[in-house]
Parts: sequence; C-alpha cells; structure tokens
Amino acid sequence: MMETRIIKLNDYCRTEILSDADREKLKEAAEILKEGGLVAFPTETVYGLGGNALMPEASERIYAAKGRPSDNPLIVHIADIKDLKPLVSEIPEAARKMAERYWPGPLTMVFKKSPLVPSRTTGGLDTVAVRFPVHPAAMELIRLSGVPVAAPSANRSGRPSTTTAAHCIEDLTGRVDAIVDGGSADIGVESTILDVSGEEPQLLRPGAVTKEMIEETLGIELAEDAALKGPLAADVRPKAPGMKYRHYAPKAPMQLVMGKNGSEAVAPAILSCLLESIRKGRKTALLCSEECLRELKALDSFPEKDIIIKPGGSRRDQYAMAHDLFELLREMDETDAEYIIAEGCSEEQLGYAVMNRLKKAAAWQILYV
Ligand code: TXA
Ligand code: MG
Repeated sequence: MMETRIIKLNDYCRTEILSDADREKLKEAAEILKEGGLVAFPTETVYGLGGNALMPEASERIYAAKGRPSDNPLIVHIADIKDLKPLVSEIPEAARKMAERYWPGPLTMVFKKSPLVPSRTTGGLDTVAVRFPVHPAAMELIRLSGVPVAAPSANRSGRPSTTTAAHCIEDLTGRVDAIVDGGSADIGVESTILDVSGEEPQLLRPGAVTKEMIEETLGIELAEDAALKGPLAADVRPKAPGMKYRHYAPKAPMQLVMGKNGSEAVAPAILSCLLESIRKGRKTALLCSEECLRELKALDSFPEKDIIIKPGGSRRDQYAMAHDLFELLREMDETDAEYIIAEGCSEEQLGYAVMNRLKKAAAWQILYV
C-alpha cells in the first residue's frame, strides 16, 4: 500500500479559468506523472487513472492498480492537437473532420499507432486510442506533465466508472500516488470511441459525441461494433477489448424493462416484475425515472414498502440520466438488493450511451414491452 495524496481543487475548476492556486497544485500532480507515478484526475466524462503513456512501467502500474487484465488497452490523453501526430502513423480524413469539430471533448479515436507508443500501453495492439479532453484541470495536468497520459477510467476493474473523487478514494486509496479532486464529472459516461484505423469509421462505444453527430459530421451511415448489438458469442472478440468485460455491473443481477413504442407499457410491466421477484423471496430494488415512479405509485398493488427505490431524474433529461448513472449503480451495491429491476430509456442521442451501459450492467437481460 502506498500513501495516496488527495489534491483538492477549487469547486469551479471545471467551468472557469483555472486559479493560480489550482495550477500550483496541478504542478505537483504533473511531477508525479512525469516520474512514472499514478494520478487519478477528473475529466468531463469520468475520472481517469493516469500514468506516463510513454513509460511501459507506468502502464504496468496502471493495470496493477486497477486489477485490470493487461490485454485491455489504455486510452492516451493529449492536451494539444499537435501532440497527436507523434503517436499515430496516419491521420485519416474522417479523423481530421471529427477532431476539428469535437476536440477537445468527449471523443476518443483509434488510430494505427506509431513506434513511439509502447505496446504495454496498447495491450499489444498495433493501434492506439487517443483522446483530447476538454476539462480545464485535465488539460492543464496533461500539459504540465509534458507527456501523453495513459488513463483508463479510475475504477477498480469490474466496478462502475468513477464520476467523483469520493468514488476514486473508495476504489484507489493506497493504490495510486495522488487523487485530484475536481468535483463531479459533468457528463458521467465515458467518451465515445470511434475507430478510424480501418477502411471505414466504426463506432466502438457510444458516448456524448453521439452516433447522430458523427453521421452528420462525416455524412455517412456509421458502422458499429457487434459488441453494441447484443451479448457476444464466446469466440467473438470485440474491437474494443474492454467491451467484453462485465463492466458497470452491480453485484445483484439486473433486469431491464424497455418500452418498444413509448413508455406507457413500462410501469405496468415493471410492477409485474417487482411482484414476481418479491414472490420469489428476493430483496428487490428499483431503478427508474421520476415519471415511472409516479405511474407506479398510482397502481394499486405497487409494493412500495417492500422494495429499495433509487429514483433517477426525469426520463426526458438525458443529461441527468447519464450524469447520475454510475453513482446510482454504486449506490445499488451499498444496499442489500438481490435483484434489480431498471427502466430503460430512449436510445436516441446520449440515451444510446446510457442504454449501452445499462444493457451491459443487466448482462443483456432485457424485457421489451
Ligand atoms: O471517457 C473516457 O474515455 C475515460 C476517461 C478517463 O478518458 N477513459 C476510459 O478508459 O473510459 P477505459 O480504459 O475505461 O475504456 C477504454 C476502452 C476500453 O474498452 C478499451 O478496450 C478501449 O477503450 N480501447 C483502448 N485502446 C483501444 C484500441 N487501440 N483499440 C480498440 N479499443 C481500444
Ligand atoms: Mg473503464
């Protein structure tokens, strides 16, 4: 166990010009990175567990701290567009267009890698995932460190991604040199991953730069990795190796209920699932929108007192849903729930990213009504 320093930034570090005091604190964190140490830091999507991307030993330490299989490649973070070129062997036209429009921001692109990037960082792949985050503290930290920063999400492997410093402290105390506390991550789900290393761009993970935005920018119908469509057969490898792991999963099994044509049928279907689960003697939890909860309360046999309720925000507010998702899944693990029933949402725009995480959390146990 190492000592983990907590470096607390001003509450406004993600919305305003960084204060001089915060810049001083980030210098300390940047020194740690430069020397091969590990620093968890905030980004606009989720917290990252950073290390010097050019030092194979730093990547090893990231895998060890996360408890992550080392065939799962790391995303390399930059703080200036000119830092892309040395990392990759070519920059396709589609990447140029996407970078111009969405960088810095919640978009990761997969390129053919250059020899500069150690294969320990890319899990042995000949491609490298690069992201240019827009969070001011992340940008300044990377800039001050003077090196590209490899960073997976700052959670222990198998747990939901971390969206607050408190989550990082829970998962990583004693395993990293420092945790930079920059408040809660604005977006709450990890970046979009777009593979531009092949013949045609392919979506590997949906995020806040949505499929619709990419299609609009590139003027194409976007291809998607099979891992987004359903559970993978045992012999199929997803393009993003991380998509095969049982990420995001709460401890209790989870059943997802989705409305095929709107939301009217959802509350009644959830009610039957709840009653069935209680009848089987399981401690049951419910994760749903405030609208759904209201509809359930209006139904006669809603077993309100017998279940654990984690109400999210409005089903119309995709940003709130994304923002709260991992926090809610973590809270679920703190209850004694043995079975979770969750309401699905629209898969348009950011909803697609939320549903991707929920489907994986539910191990694709989805009831369409
Ligand atoms: O928002 C984010 O992307 C956060 C913040 C910290 O930037 N990072 C993040 O990293 O979510 P991680 O490691 O938890 O997820 C990265 C995903 C994994 O599924 C990994 O397999 C995939 O990206 N990936 C990384 N490099 C890749 C590559 N060269 N080819 C295909 N997939 C890659
Ligand atoms: Mg992750």
